[in-house]
Amino acid sequence: EEIEKGGYDHFMLKEIFEQPKAISDCLRGRINSEDGTITLGGIEDVMDKLVNAKRVVIAACGTSWHSGLVGEYLFEYLAKVPVEVEYASEFRYKEPLIGEGDVMIAISQSGETADTLAALREAKARGALVLGVVNVVGSTIARETDAGVYIHAGPEIGVASTKAFTAQVTVLTMMAIKLGLEKGTITKTRATELITELSRIPAKIEEVLEDTTEIQRISNLFSYAPNFLYLGRSYSFPVALEGALKLKEISYIHAEGYPAAEMKHGPIALIDEMMPVVVIAATHHTNDKMISNIEEVRARKGRIIAISTSENTEVADLAEFTTIIPETMDVFSPLVSVIPLQLLSYYIAVNRGCNVDQPRNLAKSVTVE
Ligand code: AGP
Repeated sequence: EEIEKGGYDHFMLKEIFEQPKAISDCLRGRINSEDGTITLGGIEDVMDKLVNAKRVVIAACGTSWHSGLVGEYLFEYLAKVPVEVEYASEFRYKEPLIGEGDVMIAISQSGETADTLAALREAKARGALVLGVVNVVGSTIARETDAGVYIHAGPEIGVASTKAFTAQVTVLTMMAIKLGLEKGTITKTRATELITELSRIPAKIEEVLEDTTEIQRISNLFSYAPNFLYLGRSYSFPVALEGALKLKEISYIHAEGYPAAEMKHGPIALIDEMMPVVVIAATHHTNDKMISNIEEVRARKGRIIAISTSENTEVADLAEFTTIIPETMDVFSPLVSVIPLQLLSYYIAVNRGCNVDQPRNLAKSVTVE
């Protein structure tokens, strides 16, 4: 096992650091920034159905559900198709309105999650085309979907998913750009710009991983905290949910992720000088609004930990702590902004003496409904 950990203390840490490679592997042979095209072998034959889809329903659980939420923003923005993201476990119990002409995308790292499998079977039985975004090759979900795109993240051993999340988002990004191109909702020039920036993401993640001292310092200061709040807007909202889930899973600290503006509808009551509030200020088009939210937290003496870029000095001035991430386009920001959150949960869990790779009560693959 020590050999498999490759010198890292835990599989989770190894997998966090593997993300630049996992994403490069996921992109390899699929994107072409010269001519602005994307080739996804597994779904080429069904692209016409995806192009003509009335709507897309994404079904998944846990972290995969969070990547699905990022997918919703990407598909709606780039390919102008309505998307609904369903908890796979709830899908069957709401008499789902799904049928011919609809496309379901089932997202699963393991490819064995019982709830996701049940949802895709239901969608298939009702006549929808079902696509898979799966890591484990030959898994049940990979076999039962009509077509799909493997994420090629390599084996993920840590129960807390890290590299599978970023690789799932990478696949959904490629699918959204490809669909946008084929539907004509984005131009070839735009697609080329997007693909060029997408190809730079592994290096940007590498940059975050090069120096983790600030995030370790923040982790040491807040390892005592019984509660955490994570706030984000737009593409950073699913990242807030994912950051909170990571912390809950491995450090057993109660954490909630919220769309930042929802704070005033309830969670703001929780904020006092004891509450660490992680703000993901990584999307340009919501920055002004995010700054107002940060001011609201500050006025109530919340301890602000910001994830932001070096250009965003306004955020850094307001926050008590700031972890700097490289600039990228809003659509790709989750791939970079989630990295410090994975590290934050990891270092806090280690400080608290938790079993990082096998947290209590959790299994890597949940094969019961
Ligand atoms: C992630 O950190 C979790 N352990 C969990 O939420 C997981 O993402 C969920 O169970 C879905 O698993 P899957 O991707 O293998 O379907």
